[in-house]
Amino acid sequence: MTTPEDQRSTEGMVDYNKNSAMQQELVTHHAGRIRDVVRRRGLVRPELRIVDYGCGPGPSAIEAVAPAIDAYRGQFPDAPIAICHADQPGNDWNSLFALTSGPSGYAAPAIRTGAAVGSFYEQMVDDGSVDLGTCFMASHWLSHAVRLDTPGTIWFGDLHGEARAELAALAQHDWTRFLHCRARELRSGGTLLVSCLGTVPDDGETSGFAPSGRAVYRAIQIVANDMADEGWIDRTVLDRFVFGVWFMTAVEARAPLESDSELAEAFDIEDITVIPAPHNPSDIYVDFINDPAEHARLYVGYIRGFGGSTLHTQLFEPSATDGRSADNIAAEFYRRLGGLYRTHRGKYAGENWYLTVVLRKA
Ligand SMILES: C[S@@+](CC[C@H](N)C(=O)[O-])C[C@H]1O[C@@H](n2cnc3c(N)ncnc32)[C@H](O)[C@@H]1O
Repeated sequence: MTTPEDQRSTEGMVDYNKNSAMQQELVTHHAGRIRDVVRRRGLVRPELRIVDYGCGPGPSAIEAVAPAIDAYRGQFPDAPIAICHADQPGNDWNSLFALTSGPSGYAAPAIRTGAAVGSFYEQMVDDGSVDLGTCFMASHWLSHAVRLDTPGTIWFGDLHGEARAELAALAQHDWTRFLHCRARELRSGGTLLVSCLGTVPDDGETSGFAPSGRAVYRAIQIVANDMADEGWIDRTVLDRFVFGVWFMTAVEARAPLESDSELAEAFDIEDITVIPAPHNPSDIYVDFINDPAEHARLYVGYIRGFGGSTLHTQLFEPSATDGRSADNIAAEFYRRLGGLYRTHRGKYAGENWYLTVVLRKA
């Protein structure tokens, strides 16, 4: 396996705001818990410090911090708050900061807004400085783009044998690294709330597990494979392309918190669960199932939103030879993907399990 250090698993999400309803639902699902955490924390001097890791460019970055501001303001109307939005350099920072100070933003006296730019697999803020760290729909992206010998699949859920073991090891390594960084950054008594896509055991799968979105990734595989058969996509590139994601089971999420003595000492575990998404867990767009064109359009938009930049840089650009541009290949790919969704309505629906990890710094 090669893991090019200079290539991120995500390079900035495409049309993220338009296509992130599912991500926003996950954030709002946790609003009550965020309020509780802040109320329990009480008054913090010199300021309550909140960091949202992998914040993204859009409304969910506001929704992640709004309940905390609300709860703290309810108790301490004038006490200072510092909000830090943390993401990679390629995030659309201009859009984000237009939102924070816009009509739906939170800008107000005694609220200081800042950013940390880098990777959450490294330390992003000062030691012992964070009262509440959140990370939504982000930590399932691995630290690097991955090239593996994986003919027949483009994602971890359908990997077997050595390739699966290698990617699983990278995922555990990344998660452990993420936790070590947050252990340094949190203040004693501070809380880390991580929530993203999860995986559940499933005897019906040859791997023994059903990860969120399994049918969505299989739809991507089918279209990419057909296009490789027809020469649109370079077969040798496709055979080594795999999305740099891993959706953990609750057991995987808990493992380093018990086996790594530093982490076991640093954190008290409040909650580690994988549950079906409360809304439309079997098809995120089931409300549109009777309108095949709209159902397909929403799925194509969703896939572009989370996967467009990865597909472009890691599959379409390296396949762009013989006069075909990466944009041509992308257009053909999304046209076919829409066709697949329209023809097989419901077959490639996105299932959704939420992994939630809540840790208190000792
Ligand atoms: C699907 S978006 C989620 C955005 C937002 N938290 C939400 O819930 O809608 C994933 C975000 O994670 C960021 N991300 C992925 N890997 C990262 C890393 N290693 N360090 C920091 N941010 C990362 C991406 O840049 C992207 O903005």
